[in-house]
Amino acid sequence: MTPIPNLNIVPFVSVDNMMKLVMRIGIERFLTELEAYIEEDFRRWEMFDKTPRVASHSPNGVIELMPTSDGTLYGFKYVNGHPYNAHTGRQTVTAFGVLADTASGYPMLITEMTILTALRTAATSAMAAKYLAPKGARTMAIIGNGAQSEFQALAFKAVLGIDKLRLYDIDPKATHKCAHNLAAYGFDIVQAKTPEEAVTGAQIVTTVTADKKNATILTDNMVGEGIHINAVGGDCPGKTELHRDIVLRSEIFVEYPPQTWIEGEIQQLPQTHPIHELWKVIAGNETGRSNDRQITLFDSVGFAIEDFSALRYLRDRLQGSGLYEELDLLADPDEPRDLFGMLLRSVKPNTDAA
Ligand SMILES: NC(=O)c1ccc[n+]([C@@H]2O[C@H](COP(=O)([O-])OP(=O)(O)OC[C@H]3O[C@@H](n4cnc5c(N)ncnc54)[C@H](O)[C@@H]3O)[C@@H](O)[C@H]2O)c1
Repeated sequence: MTPIPNLNIVPFVSVDNMMKLVMRIGIERFLTELEAYIEEDFRRWEMFDKTPRVASHSPNGVIELMPTSDGTLYGFKYVNGHPYNAHTGRQTVTAFGVLADTASGYPMLITEMTILTALRTAATSAMAAKYLAPKGARTMAIIGNGAQSEFQALAFKAVLGIDKLRLYDIDPKATHKCAHNLAAYGFDIVQAKTPEEAVTGAQIVTTVTADKKNATILTDNMVGEGIHINAVGGDCPGKTELHRDIVLRSEIFVEYPPQTWIEGEIQQLPQTHPIHELWKVIAGNETGRSNDRQITLFDSVGFAIEDFSALRYLRDRLQGSGLYEELDLLADPDEPRDLFGMLLRSVKPNTDAA
């Protein structure tokens, strides 16, 4: 791969260019290729620096920093979660991120990550379901039909072949929007009036709601044997979606336990409760679903390695695309120690002065 020239100019991917890139590649192909990058990084999980993300909580939401490195590359994402932002016309989740070279410490890429986060979250969910969902699953319920929902639907279509959707949101306008946006993608779509109706007959249930509380999106009686739950929306202390009894009945798979104990559905359980690390299933060290009756739960909170994979994928896909701007981000004096001299030379001497 030819590197982007001039190390002092940092490629920047705007929202506009990200949209062009995704549509040029095709959303389903983008999701499938991204899923492969995430899977590759989950297989080499042990190589990465790992830490629970650094969260700054405030009454309306949270701002988080998510760093990781594989020793050669370093990546981080800035992301917020503000469930009431929609009331003022803003996104619940926005993000941007950086990929850097550990040898020099220089950033190699800076990018919008709001769209990229929706894609990586969906690709990660589909990756987990590949190992955990019942074989031959075709029907998925999606509860919470906001910004993430269409991405989830398309990742499950691209990676697992899901072609029937059962949608529910407390706000019917959100369900209508989701169904409308997905109309051209070949799904058989039911717009359900209750969460109970949505989960009926679904082999996979995705919960992707936003609220700042311990909500009960699914109650125990709604969850039958053999289904896979992809719980995406509970991702902060005091912000969960599933009734504790469902979590207790499930075989639980998580990204990075020290972060998920703080943020995931399992914050409702004592830390002695058995859980599985998803990377071990993907690396072939543990089995995923082991029988048809098991309820499997992917307790997704979103981990830095998934963003790192997304940044890596973006870097590779950007080559030759022209879909970036060149940012003058790094000071580059001719003599590295003469930073001050460069500053002085930036102002031309006024030769007209008396
Ligand atoms: N796990 C991850 O990696 C990850 C990544 C991104 C976002 N998230 C989380 O996913 C959630 C959804 O994000 P978004 O960007 O789609 O938010 P959004 O605000 O665009 O959509 C959320 C939707 O949930 C609906 N909703 C709220 N309470 C509900 C309930 N009780 N029943 C049914 N629907 C309900 C809202 O009406 C809204 O349409 C957020 O909580 C966000 O923090 C998780």
